[in-house]
Amino acid sequence: MSEQHLAVIVLAAGEGTRMRSSTPKVLHEIAGLPMLGHALATATALGAQRVVPVIRHEKDKLEAYINAFYPQAHIVHQDEIPGTGRAVECAINAFPEDFSGAVVVTSGDVPLLDVQTIESMIDVHLSTGAGATLLSATFDNPTGYGRIVRDDSGSFRSIVEERDATEEEREITEVNAGVYVFDFKLLKSALVAIGSHNAAGEKYLTDAAVEILKSGSEVQALEVSDNWLVAGVNNRVQLQEVSAELNRRICQGWMLAGVTITHPETTFIDITAALAEDVTLLPGTHLKGITRIGSGSTIGPEVVITDTQVGSNVSITKSQIAGSVIDDEATVGPFSYLRPGTHLGAGGKIGTFVETKNAVIGVGSKVPHLSYVGDATIGEHTNIGAGTIFANYDGVNKHHTVIGSHVRSGSHNVFVAPVTIADGSYTAAGTVVRKDVESGSLAMSVAPQRNLAGWVIANRPNTASADAANKATE
Ligand code: UD1
Ligand code: CA
Repeated sequence: MSEQHLAVIVLAAGEGTRMRSSTPKVLHEIAGLPMLGHALATATALGAQRVVPVIRHEKDKLEAYINAFYPQAHIVHQDEIPGTGRAVECAINAFPEDFSGAVVVTSGDVPLLDVQTIESMIDVHLSTGAGATLLSATFDNPTGYGRIVRDDSGSFRSIVEERDATEEEREITEVNAGVYVFDFKLLKSALVAIGSHNAAGEKYLTDAAVEILKSGSEVQALEVSDNWLVAGVNNRVQLQEVSAELNRRICQGWMLAGVTITHPETTFIDITAALAEDVTLLPGTHLKGITRIGSGSTIGPEVVITDTQVGSNVSITKSQIAGSVIDDEATVGPFSYLRPGTHLGAGGKIGTFVETKNAVIGVGSKVPHLSYVGDATIGEHTNIGAGTIFANYDGVNKHHTVIGSHVRSGSHNVFVAPVTIADGSYTAAGTVVRKDVESGSLAMSVAPQRNLAGWVIANRPNTASADAANKATE
């Protein structure tokens, strides 16, 4: 006997018109991953020899996503003949000559389907020797799904799409979930045999199952244990419903793993985030992307954290954070905005109405109030006075500010970068620091305002500001 293979085809070539979106349907996200990402993660976890996404509509965007995250997938392009059956036909036409075995078909718009359900379908399929095994579900409201027609003995007979169904068939509540296991050879000949004589004028994959039955092989429809696993997303109402359910399950999973979530209805955790035991999430917390939260930390209320590493016993309230690292025992907020490249050291503080970007703030250092810290390195146990601005931008280029350890800067300072303020120095209130400050000094600048006429035209030629100045002084 020749070797038995396993392939998984993920259908993603449809137009998704019901989304009414310029983004392809299967790239709409739930829990931080495009629906296609969920489907491909499941397909990949089955350990098949081939994972075959079929694409057509908006193919460049889909191809870019697949190549970035699933470079080992064998992308197939569907031709102009429409329908799920044609999509599968295009996929298997690209299989190697010697392929034989089972072909799993799933859809890019059924994001909650899990590995276990498909594995048990494959087990039943192989042990019963069926020609096709498909998954069904009983929905209170089956609108939009293909209905499973069974004979008097309860055996599978056909699938009727809603558009093609009679009044009587529309009453059927058992629907086709759109997940199949086929014997490769039977599938191949069935797809050649079927036409597109239906209301949509499409080549339906569902007709291939009926064709296999007609050819004398067994076709079975297995009922899924949990209807959410097969919920299809065709419009944005369904997108929201499926996202809400996945989020509910993610929150439940973290609660069982030792995380306190006081209000899961307003707590949103991407599937890619990870939390330690004894984390507390307060209402309005969103954890996005590759975010990690260490034990004992309290996050929220109203915090959005993206792609950020948070240590243990950290407290973050009412803040927005991206691309940052926050070490143990640090505090952030309320009303802080941490932009990429922020690293807050252990026990440090970024306080109220503070914005940071590309800023390394050392152990125990504090930026408590009303400041902008951009392109800076701050040492340990330094305190930055209220209302301090790190003036990193000269209108053309960005420059770096270095502040040492145990520095006390006065309120309402401006650090005009590039500038260095050495260990153990002080700056007086209202100081505009333009010159480096040596260790242990007190820097102060109290001067009447002077306007240097023509400075912009002379020093920033060929800029929009120089043009404007030229115009104004003509
Ligand atoms: C399909 C099934 C229906 C089932 C439902 C479950 C058919 C004919 N109908 O209907 O019985 O109840 O799924 O969710 O199969 N696609 C392609 N190429 C195409 C058309 C679609 O790749 O030419 C892809 C889509 O991108 C999508 C999947 O196939 O991922 C299903 O297509 P869709 O149009 O959503 O089918 P449904 O109407 O949901
Ligand atoms: Ca669908």
